[in-house]
Parts: sequence; C-alpha cells; structure tokens
Amino acid sequence: MASSARIYKGTPRNLALLARHLRKGGLVAVPTETVYGLAADATSREACLRIFAAKGRPADDPLIVHIASLADLGRIAVANPAALKLAKAFWPGPLTIVLPKTSSVPDEATSGLPSVAVRMPAHPLFRRLIRLAGVPLAAPSANPFGYVSPTTAAHVRKSLGSRIRHILDGGPSVIGLESTIVDLRNPLRPALLRPGAITRLQLSRVLGKPVTLARTARSGARLAPGQMKRHYSPLTPVVLHAGLTAQEAARGPADEAWLFLSRPAPTGRSRALPGNHFWLDEHGDLKRAARRLFSVLRQLDEKGFKRIHAERPSGGGIAEALLDRLVRASAI
Ligand code: TXA
Ligand code: MG
Repeated sequence: MASSARIYKGTPRNLALLARHLRKGGLVAVPTETVYGLAADATSREACLRIFAAKGRPADDPLIVHIASLADLGRIAVANPAALKLAKAFWPGPLTIVLPKTSSVPDEATSGLPSVAVRMPAHPLFRRLIRLAGVPLAAPSANPFGYVSPTTAAHVRKSLGSRIRHILDGGPSVIGLESTIVDLRNPLRPALLRPGAITRLQLSRVLGKPVTLARTARSGARLAPGQMKRHYSPLTPVVLHAGLTAQEAARGPADEAWLFLSRPAPTGRSRALPGNHFWLDEHGDLKRAARRLFSVLRQLDEKGFKRIHAERPSGGGIAEALLDRLVRASAI
C-alpha cells in the first residue's frame, strides 16, 4: 500500500505543527500507553467524521474522547463522585469512563448516544499535544476497522499510511492493550464494558462495590456499542487451546503457528524449538505478554501461516483482558 504518511519525532516544533493541523480539523495518529490512536478535534463534527472515513469504521461505533487535565472533564461530561474517585485513582492512565455527555461533544463523536467515553492518557507526548491543540481529542485505535490495534508508529504507517499524513512517534506502547472501559452512567451500578490493564478488582476496591461484567466476550452479545464479537483480528484464523502443550504443537502441521504464553520446553531429544513455535513472554509474565500480543499477531500474519493456535490465558487481572482480545481474534 502506498504510504503518504510522515512519522514525526516529538520535538517542540513538530508538536506545534501537529497541534495546528488538529485545530484545523485534521487527523494525527498519536502514541498512547495502551495502543496508538487516530486523533481529531472532538468538538468538531467534520473532524470526527474524518476519523470514521479513514478507519472504515461503522457510524454506530462511538469514539473515546481524550483530555489532558481533570478541569476539562466537566467540559465534555457530567461527572459524579464515583467517576471522580476513579479519575483520582487511575488518571492519567489506561482507564476510560462512560458518562452522560455535555452539548460541547457532537453526536458524530458519540454515534448519537447521550453518553461519552472519556480518558486521560498517560503518554507525555500525547498529553502535550492535547494541551497545545487546546481541545479534547477524539481517538479510536489507529487501525483499519476490525484489525489488530497498532502499538508502534510503524504499525500505523503500514495499515493506515495511505489514508493519513501525520503520525507522531512516541515509541512502542508500554501496555499494549486498549484501555479498560467502565460504564458509570449509573454510579450505583458500575459495569465493565471492556477489560484492560486496570482490572475489575482494582476498580471495585476504589469504588467500594463490585463492578459487574456488562457482557461476556464468549456470549458475543452486543450490550455496548462497538462491542463486536469479532474484533482485533489478524487475517490468519486463530484457534484457542486451554493448556496448550509443546507435545501437542510438535504433532501439528508445519504450516500452522503455535503461540504460547511462555517459552515452552523443547520436546524429545532435540534442544531447539521448531520454527513454528512462538511465545508472548520468555517466562509467561502476563503484563509483558499483553505488551507484545498485537505485534506478535501482526508478525504471524506476515509469515503467512495457515492458522494460529494460541494458548488460552486463565485467571483474573490482566489475564481477563488478554483472554478477551484472544477470544475476539478467534471469533468467526
Ligand atoms: O486505549 C484506548 O482506549 C485506545 C486509545 C487510543 O486511547 N482507544 C480505543 O478506542 O481503543 P476504540 O475506538 O478502538 O474503542 C472505543 C470503544 C468503542 O468501540 C465502544 O465500545 C466504547 O469505546 N465506547 C465509546 N463511547 C462509548 C459510549 N458512549 N458508551 C459505551 N461505550 C462506548
Ligand atoms: Mg479499536
């Protein structure tokens, strides 16, 4: 795909240029600690529509609006004490809160919903850019709709490079999975819309009440807008296996890939692992596994395997988010 996109380092001069572009209603791909986003002025209808066009995103999938300081929250959303508690505990960081919206957020940003998803990102370059632009920035993940989210500037250029012109490089995303989304429209009944690095338990502790699961990844029910069953998918079909073993993998066909959470011990007498064995982290550290998941799925897509057999993560915490993304990647 021909790329017209330029990758900018985060120099003061470049940031000023990109902020001007945003103020004029343009698109800029931005680094965040979760995944790269495709940003535009959240208060401009035309700018928001440009995001949908560039991503090929359906109009009924609302955007997340990013702010740089808590003072900006009231400008776009009607906060409540529970939301402020979470904001104090986890912002800036990988948590998105759904609240009733104010009139400064156009329907184009929220797909016509009376609510808005708000996040204060932690990445210093993105925060500086929001401040310089002087407006809240709507930003979904910077990937063509349905594909794996980008965690580097190079990923963005590869899949959106022919559709956008400006990419701000802030290094690889340190978390690697999209933010946790919690619905606090009714603060008495907090609900998790998307698992992420901030876990349900962490949220419950701060709120002093349980946070329910608004949907289960497995049911595929669409209880929240934009929560499609198939999403974050590589082009190669993915199959999940509970308790995947190296013995099982060694018996499989050579043109299919085996993706483990940690480096498997070689089977039989040979010390080397076959070339179709991959792992997310040497020692199965799930935070590091989460950081690498999307780039590994992209690499496996490029290698042209017929199928990806992935080990199914289990347990709470970040494992819940990893499982969610893998289940979506494997949905047909
Ligand atoms: O980590 C992230 O959240 C990244 C970075 C760029 O900040 N952004 C991201 O955006 O993952 P995106 O567009 O890929 O996911 C946005 C999702 C929607 O698909 C929808 O599920 C949910 O956020 N959402 C947005 N507005 C909502 C609303 N008003 N009510 C319920 N869910 C909403
Ligand atoms: Mg996305």
